[in-house]
Amino acid sequence: MPKLKLITYGCQANDLDSERITGLLLREGYTFTDREEEADLILLNTCAIREKAEHKVYSRLGSFQALKRQRTGLKIGICGCVAQQEGQALLNRFPYLDFVVGPGQLTAIPPLLQAGVTRGLATARAAGYSYPVNAPVQRRSSIRAWVSIMEGCDRFCTFCVVPFTRGRERSRPSQDIIEEIRGLKRQGYREVTLLGQTVNSYGRKLTPPITFVELLRRIDQLVGDRMRIRFTSPHPSDVTHELATAIAELPSLCEQIHLPVQSGSDRILHRMKRGYDREEFLEKVALLRAKAPEIAITTDIIVGFPGETEEDFQTTLDLMQEVLFDGAFIFKYSPRSRTEAERMPDQLSEEVKGRWLEQALALLNRLSLERNRAYLGRTVEVLVNREDAKGDAIRHAGRTRQNKIVHFTGEGVEDGGVVAVAITEATPLYLQGELVCPQ
Ligand code: SAH
Ligand code: SF4
Ligand code: F3S
Repeated sequence: MPKLKLITYGCQANDLDSERITGLLLREGYTFTDREEEADLILLNTCAIREKAEHKVYSRLGSFQALKRQRTGLKIGICGCVAQQEGQALLNRFPYLDFVVGPGQLTAIPPLLQAGVTRGLATARAAGYSYPVNAPVQRRSSIRAWVSIMEGCDRFCTFCVVPFTRGRERSRPSQDIIEEIRGLKRQGYREVTLLGQTVNSYGRKLTPPITFVELLRRIDQLVGDRMRIRFTSPHPSDVTHELATAIAELPSLCEQIHLPVQSGSDRILHRMKRGYDREEFLEKVALLRAKAPEIAITTDIIVGFPGETEEDFQTTLDLMQEVLFDGAFIFKYSPRSRTEAERMPDQLSEEVKGRWLEQALALLNRLSLERNRAYLGRTVEVLVNREDAKGDAIRHAGRTRQNKIVHFTGEGVEDGGVVAVAITEATPLYLQGELVCPQ
């Protein structure tokens, strides 16, 4: 049986795509290997969001050149966002590459592997929701599952490559989503994360239209307290009263939101074309906290956007302090081809971006430690999941409804179970505690 080595970069959308690719290739008779030396097919599922992510792909790809010479019959393919962005240019630049497949064309992979097909290209952008319901998904976890509810993005933030790689916004029919989640419940899954680039804009273009909150309510009715539901990433402009109420009321919906702000400066937000200003973002945060006081709020921040001044950057630090985020991903701005911001004249130096990144990370560390310390002495509900232990064999691990990672000790703990843990220590990135007996 042929063996596949699959290497995945990027966001949850790519993780899910890799599970889809695995499902498709299992059906074709492939087995899986961690070792590229014994692979018959090496696939890189790539990310184009920042220059660094793209460079990782090229250097990894370069390392396969010798292998390709040694192993007759070895095929190498590139999928994901770099595939979509670069297309034919990849085939031109890497003569040992066998095929290039965009994220909307995963089902083209099996036909491209047929004998006789060489130097294949499948990068047409999907017009509708692109992954067929009946195509298999081979999930890595038996506890947590990703469920895609929409693909693509219409927002065209000036820094972002995603609308170019994933195409326009397409929502998946709600019946298909419900059916998939019904199946996951039957299989004993305990958590579902609904995925979309602007996940809370779901359903507007469907006929008849349906709102994201309506979808959440239907899912909640189906899963009740049997499963935890999360979603990522929502756009601040589409955070509504109804959504805040749903987070507060629906038993399955977790008190957690990843709400990318990008910048605290109105001038920069405007140049980014984010569609909201600082005040509106703060209003959304206040609304969420008023309805669901237990909610944990995390964010994404970009430092060093073209034209950003020391003053703009300070405004971002102020906003971080004002909101008291539970966590954040902070990135140095990276110019991406075809985006508007790449063409802006006032690009900043690596030195400035690096300095600001360090400053923002230091503040984040203090803030998330402060937020996590609030859990000291409290008992929290943890969904046990070995994956969260990151290879630490001694302790158990899992997550709270707020998505905080908890490491803990105790006897008789099973993966996929929900346990009560008393929190005894807090770090910026996770909590530590002891199992409360009886469970
Ligand atoms: N759809 C999500 C974001 C997906 S990309 C949203 O709109 O919320 C994930 C994060 O990568 C973004 O939130 C942004 O902070 C960061 N990012 C995107 N493009 C970037 C770029 N050119 N340089 C640096 N960071 C970028
Ligand atoms: Fe990119 Fe903006 Fe769309 Fe998010 S909302 S995927 S940052 S264009
Ligand atoms: Fe990267 Fe594509 Fe996701 S660019 S962040 S893998 S949508």
